[in-house]
Amino acid sequence: MDLYEYQARDLFESYGVPVLAGIVADTPSEVRAAAEKLGGTVVVKAQVKTGGRGKAGGVKVAHNPADAEAAAEAIFGLDIKGHIVRRVMVAAGARIAQEFYFSVLLDRANRSYLSLSSVEGGMEIEQLAVEKPEALARIEVDPLVGIDGVKAAEIARAAGFPDELLERIVPVLERLWWVYRDEDATLVEVNPLVLTESGDIIALDGKITLDENAEFRHEGHAALAEAGDIDPLEAKAKESSLNYVKLDGQVGIIGNGAGLVMSTLDVVSYAGEKHGGVKPANFLDIGGGASAEVMAAGLDVILGDPQVKSVFVNVFGGITACDAVANGIVGALDKLGDAATKPLVVRLDGNNVEEGRQILADAAHPLVTVVDTMDDAADKAAELANA
Ligand SMILES: Nc1ncnc2c1ncn2[C@@H]1O[C@H](COP(=O)(O)OP(=O)(O)OP(=O)(O)O)[C@@H](O)[C@H]1O
Ligand SMILES: [Mg+2]
Repeated sequence: MDLYEYQARDLFESYGVPVLAGIVADTPSEVRAAAEKLGGTVVVKAQVKTGGRGKAGGVKVAHNPADAEAAAEAIFGLDIKGHIVRRVMVAAGARIAQEFYFSVLLDRANRSYLSLSSVEGGMEIEQLAVEKPEALARIEVDPLVGIDGVKAAEIARAAGFPDELLERIVPVLERLWWVYRDEDATLVEVNPLVLTESGDIIALDGKITLDENAEFRHEGHAALAEAGDIDPLEAKAKESSLNYVKLDGQVGIIGNGAGLVMSTLDVVSYAGEKHGGVKPANFLDIGGGASAEVMAAGLDVILGDPQVKSVFVNVFGGITACDAVANGIVGALDKLGDAATKPLVVRLDGNNVEEGRQILADAAHPLVTVVDTMDDAADKAAELANA
């Protein structure tokens, strides 16, 4: 689970990582009030769970409350890589002398933790890694030892942080490690970590990803997940324990098995190029036991998405055979009744496929088209979405 910047800021603060004052606001007038409270120069920052906010116009400096309100007017509603800005943080303005980069993350490939750091902070780290890989220090962090004073100094030196700052930076890196370790994070990133003109080290931006598998031992994490604007469809899917991710397109997708659903997204995107550029509207994996209830819950979520124009049900029968899935689809459509209004393209294959197709043929539901292959079905679903 990714956190919003303001949530990361609050966690940092509770671990003694130096941060600036920040006030969350949901309307331009709240922004104005926050700027009045903070006084002086403030920075209005879009709170969305994606990077590159600055470049997209989501981070603006304001020198007085009226300017802050005007900046907020421009930021609310912005679409930053598909994330609409509904909340901002008004942060106290820093006088920046230098910007650094620091992160610690789970390094799956090496079954370890990895710290990345650089004196070239501020810019996007992906870009830095490509354009100036030598400027990015990669230091392995032993999970059993973590980042103690010695490790922090090693990281700071490797990054090229100025020697005279070591004393001030080392305790900050140690504390960022405590956040990572004690909150069961898989990523703690600070970009930029700044040196101010008055010589303080401050975390000006924060990205934290928490490990959802560790949620059971963190009572506070559920509240972090609830905060902000969780997509209502995602919330509904979660209630039914469905693996659903809302995307931007028009073709609703239901499949069984994450791999099959991922490749379904690919074929639909590809087919969509011929049909007005339609795209998948979601990821939804109903898993192995595709009962009528699960199918109905899945269809219900997808049909509730106003962007969806057609639905592609792509199922490979395994332990749950195609006839069970077909019964699931028919049962789901019965259950939904008039709520089912969008065309469904169904591709079944695998165990008991003939029986499954027969069940759908017998039901002869006016919204359902059965197509034999995945590519043809994707094409049909894209065509219907574009109609
Ligand atoms: N409180 C602040 N005071 C002064 N300048 C700031 C402040 N917050 C951010 N900035 C400036 O704005 C730049 C961008 O801010 P920030 O890193 O928070 O957003 P971003 O990097 O564009 O977004 P993301 O991290 O999502 O990619 C910083 O590098 C810094 O120069
Ligand atoms: Mg940043």
